[in-house]
Amino acid sequence: MNGGQGLNSYANNSTYQRGGFEAVKPIMEEEIATKLDLKNRSSKTPFRIADFGCSTGLNSFPAMQTIIQAIEKKIDTQKGLLSGPPDFQVFFVDQLVNDFASLFRLLPPERNYYSAAVPGSFQDRLLPNASIDFAYSSCALNWFSKIPAAVEDRSSPAWNGGRVHYTGARREVFEAYAKHFANDIRLFLEARAREVVAGGLMALLVPAVPTFEIPDNSFATPTELDLVGSCLVDMAKKGKIKKEKIDSFNFPMYLTIPQEFQTILERNPKFSIERFEIIDSPGKSTLAGANARAGFMRAILEVLLINHFGGEIIDELFDRYTKKLASSPVFIDPNNDKSILILVILKRKPE
Ligand SMILES: C[S@@+](CC[C@H](N)C(=O)[O-])C[C@H]1O[C@@H](n2cnc3c(N)ncnc32)[C@H](O)[C@@H]1O
Repeated sequence: MNGGQGLNSYANNSTYQRGGFEAVKPIMEEEIATKLDLKNRSSKTPFRIADFGCSTGLNSFPAMQTIIQAIEKKIDTQKGLLSGPPDFQVFFVDQLVNDFASLFRLLPPERNYYSAAVPGSFQDRLLPNASIDFAYSSCALNWFSKIPAAVEDRSSPAWNGGRVHYTGARREVFEAYAKHFANDIRLFLEARAREVVAGGLMALLVPAVPTFEIPDNSFATPTELDLVGSCLVDMAKKGKIKKEKIDSFNFPMYLTIPQEFQTILERNPKFSIERFEIIDSPGKSTLAGANARAGFMRAILEVLLINHFGGEIIDELFDRYTKKLASSPVFIDPNNDKSILILVILKRKPE
């Protein structure tokens, strides 16, 4: 994600993700009011929350505030639960390369929690045993820890030469992505099962698609990433990008479908699924017009693209993308947006 607070920053181009959080906020408040177990807690012990994949924080801060306010309300309305609100502490978790300096600069001054950053991959253990009371992750679990090796191996049937994503690719490519996603989620859940206290809650907001449509040889719903991919291929045809560079590049991102995600969650014995909601096209209305949509894409992809192709292609790539988007009868109409958001509330079972 683009750091800082400039024109192309994630901070300035993430209203789509923010729209997702706003859509699920009332459900999260309800779940905290009804499912969060505060019976054996003391107001002297800090209540710890962790946001896995916080980026530079502008969408994380309102989410953390919502969780804390919902807990405070619960303590207030159910007298006798605790003698008063505990101290709150928030761990902002993201990759080592995340722009944590911007996150700390942007922290709301009037916040009522202590804050700390935790750098590392959330597929690994990052926090002490049974130290987290509420885990949260929004729009982050769809990103891979790394590209599935088979997709970049010329001798593998899953090699994805000439393409940059699994949509419309051969079945083997799609299967390699799906398998990698399931493994990443398994690792995430295993790590969190160690970190979240018994009875603790976890809210996961995961971008997804409703179902795979399978016209001919296409194994997934087309997304705007396909348009970015087609611009890269166009530039390779014009000699502006080496063809081998396309062959060795794949987007490390996967959009699951609800049934698949639920099955992966059910395989983990340590969490119970308390709620599983599908929110239709959450941020649709937040991205009006090709420029806003291109800004959203650029903010999340630019670093990835620069690392592989170099910075000199970026302006032209996103100019081409904006034009393609504007002239695409399918993608420019928000009513054709097939994206959904899955909200899952999990509870850590007792040992
Ligand atoms: C699209 S941003 C979402 C940011 C914020 N949660 C929101 O809703 O706006 C995804 C974030 O997840 C982080 N992320 C992706 N994979 C990760 C991993 N394996 N470990 C830690 N953070 C990761 C990225 O670095 C990025 O900051």
